[in-house]
Amino acid sequence: MSTKNLLKEKFQQSGGKRPYVQRLFGRIARVYDLMNHLMTFGLDGYWRAFAARCLALGPAETGLDLGTGTADLSIAVIRASGPQARMIGMDITPQMLDQGRIKIAQLGLQDRIDLRLGDAEHIDLPDNSVDGCCSAFTMRNLTDIGLGFRETLRVVRPGGRVVCLEISHPPGKIFGALFSFYFYKLVPLLGTIIGKAFEEYTYLPHSLTNFPDAVSLQKIMEESGWSDVHFHRLTGGIVAVHVATKRT
Ligand SMILES: C[S@@+](CC[C@H](N)C(=O)[O-])C[C@H]1O[C@@H](n2cnc3c(N)ncnc32)[C@H](O)[C@@H]1O
Repeated sequence: MSTKNLLKEKFQQSGGKRPYVQRLFGRIARVYDLMNHLMTFGLDGYWRAFAARCLALGPAETGLDLGTGTADLSIAVIRASGPQARMIGMDITPQMLDQGRIKIAQLGLQDRIDLRLGDAEHIDLPDNSVDGCCSAFTMRNLTDIGLGFRETLRVVRPGGRVVCLEISHPPGKIFGALFSFYFYKLVPLLGTIIGKAFEEYTYLPHSLTNFPDAVSLQKIMEESGWSDVHFHRLTGGIVAVHVATKRT
């Protein structure tokens, strides 16, 4: 059976993609940060810092980080923003948020970052209630990406921005082939050896297979109602950072 069909079957057995994803991240929460840094050779920090600068909240503004996980993007946004800016970090996986809370406490950022359980496809916040929204490596885990972007549009105030950092499909043939070999073959191996999590680190690369390329993702964001949508490819297009503004 192909990995795509195997994943489909696993989603069905778990009662859908959302509960499958939630359980999966629950199992790897403790090794998640270490694996991220190892798999990306530490580039994940640079990618998040870039995305955070694209959002950069003004003084006392509030931002929302969807699928915040262990809160690294929320922390990066606080560092890139004006004084007294605050972040709400939302995630469906309690174990990931627990790891994030430990980190936030160590950094003394409890007053600036509020971590909450919540679903990116049904955001439990009023319309126009945040100044900006961001996500890192979350969107490809959603069941309906368009719904995720429509929800962000609803909760961001007019004039506010959304910033989406995601793994992408590198455009060059040779680099693309090298990336595919690394991502689809070596990442599961690393995940098994270091994280003792073969299934989890097989799901992660395969979640990219059906995820749109950077141009198609731009279209989805435009169709969801976002304006001035553009993107930056980083590290040869391994990741893309999409930025858009809500019409005033
Ligand atoms: C690959 S991790 C990314 C974590 C973090 N943003 C980072 O930069 O490392 C994806 C996260 O998205 C969360 N997630 C998946 N589906 C979600 C949903 N529908 N709503 C909120 N969070 C979700 C997972 O629980 C997981 O913590």
